[in-house]
Amino acid sequence: MKKLVIANWKMAPQTVKEAQAIFAKIKSRAARLRGVETVIAPPFIYLPLLKSAGKIKLAAQDVAKDDGGPWTGEISARMLKGVGVSYAIIGHSERREIGEGDDVIREKLYQSLFRGLKSVLCVGEKEKSQEAFPHIVREQIKKALRGIPRYFASKTIIAYEPVWAISSHSKGKADTPQNFFEMSIFIRRTVLDVWGKSAALRLPIIYGGSVNAKNAKGFLEVKGGSGVLVGKASLDAREFNKILEIADTI
Ligand code: PGA
Repeated sequence: MKKLVIANWKMAPQTVKEAQAIFAKIKSRAARLRGVETVIAPPFIYLPLLKSAGKIKLAAQDVAKDDGGPWTGEISARMLKGVGVSYAIIGHSERREIGEGDDVIREKLYQSLFRGLKSVLCVGEKEKSQEAFPHIVREQIKKALRGIPRYFASKTIIAYEPVWAISSHSKGKADTPQNFFEMSIFIRRTVLDVWGKSAALRLPIIYGGSVNAKNAKGFLEVKGGSGVLVGKASLDAREFNKILEIADTI
């Protein structure tokens, strides 16, 4: 199975020129790698300009909760499909932080899956010290998947992103591969409760939170893990290309 490496550019870079330059460097490296699925999630506005050429797939960082209607500022999954996007990140903690709740996340996940986008549901506890954090993650998953038909399982990916490990919160300190391993088992068990065994066993689970070229190997080698979601380090093409190369060898 190919490793999945997703670049989440968040609200950067600030110019089209920079975006095109980073994209071009990643594209030429990704073209040589067979063992990695390289996905870039730039800001919406750059999506039609970057085009999912060659081996790189494009992801949206969010989708609207509806397919049509008067939603000022929103972008539908259908529009995204129309410009060549194949993945969507749903429920990122930075969106939860600005008020996106579990119900909205569920609707967005449904829309994204319904339109055929591979959908990366982000879950994770806020504080490292939160005692019942597996419980928090379980609730996030159960609420997001509630009412979503099992046949969408094959297009669903779960990203475990403990919020405290995201570089903007942690000053670059990631979680440990061991914890990711334990959480991936827990996440799989939770999905089993909702969608049953075969969906749970096949579900790709990836890690996100301060992944860089130094620590990527540990997370990519986790048994049962399928890849990484990279924020800050994905804006540095050299660093990100190193992560792609590591993923290619695992
Ligand atoms: P980070 O971000 O790699 O900068 O920690 C990851 C994310 O928020 O998806």
